Amino acid sequence: MKVNIAGVELNNPVITASGTFGFGREYGEYIDLNKLGGICVKGLTFTPRKGNPPPRIAETPAGILNSVGLQNPGVKYFVDHEMPFLKKFDTRIIANISGNTVEEYCSMAEILSDSDVDLIEMNISCPNVKEGGVAFGTKASTVSHITKEVKKHCAKPLIVKLSPNVTDIKEIALAAEEGGADAVSLINTLLGMAIDIHSRKPILANNVGGLSGPAVKPVAVRMVWQVTSVVKVPVIGMGGIMTGEDAVEFMLAGASAVAVGTANFVDPQVCPKVVQGLESYLKQQHIHDVKDVIGKLELN
Ligand code: FUM
Repeated sequence: MKVNIAGVELNNPVITASGTFGFGREYGEYIDLNKLGGICVKGLTFTPRKGNPPPRIAETPAGILNSVGLQNPGVKYFVDHEMPFLKKFDTRIIANISGNTVEEYCSMAEILSDSDVDLIEMNISCPNVKEGGVAFGTKASTVSHITKEVKKHCAKPLIVKLSPNVTDIKEIALAAEEGGADAVSLINTLLGMAIDIHSRKPILANNVGGLSGPAVKPVAVRMVWQVTSVVKVPVIGMGGIMTGEDAVEFMLAGASAVAVGTANFVDPQVCPKVVQGLESYLKQQHIHDVKDVIGKLELN
């Protein structure tokens, strides 16, 4: 079940998606965190953030809209207070970072390079903040520039997390690779809106938010397939994974690992179930190494 992302070996391909698993503590009461391939923690910023005002979550058919706004205790708090807990487990730790400026991304990469995190995921795709976030992730030239700058300050493998809110995902993924990304992950949420017809107001205080969950899965699988057909770096696929079969779809499309997000809110034990589902698929298909599933899609 082992896979390799940018030189880092994962015990299995299943990672928790940033923003859906906190720093692992609460879920540790429901599952054995050692069973995860990796934990990608809530998005970190240079200074602590309270996030956006409520309501900031709205349920939609087959998904949720969120406009959390990067609530987190800040990168230094994470290193001092959350990493000692996370390092006790036999799983890989991925720190997800967001900045208002290129300099903030670089400073966070430096701080985390001196920590025990295994990989850094640079989030240039958050749709819920006024500065930074997706503003860095929708133009190829900006993606390549910020990746190059952050790489100068980053001693850990750098994953660039891509936004689906673009015209050509291949162009953006190639720009990240050209900038020196060691891997890319996709998709972050799709920008959406829900309206309360009685008040005639948007349900989210921020008016718009990011859509995730099974509703986005076909878009995510298509984008992972498009990206893996043009980049050489490993791809982490995510978007609406609920079961082992869903994870297999992403791996057939070319993902070397997968992240499970919204499903954690439905079932806090879903990640080990996805691992088991993947294992069952391998057994049924008489496949001995999960790596033999990666990119084995047969097109019509
Ligand atoms: O609003 C949020 O905290 C979400 C972040 C993201 O989608 O990257």
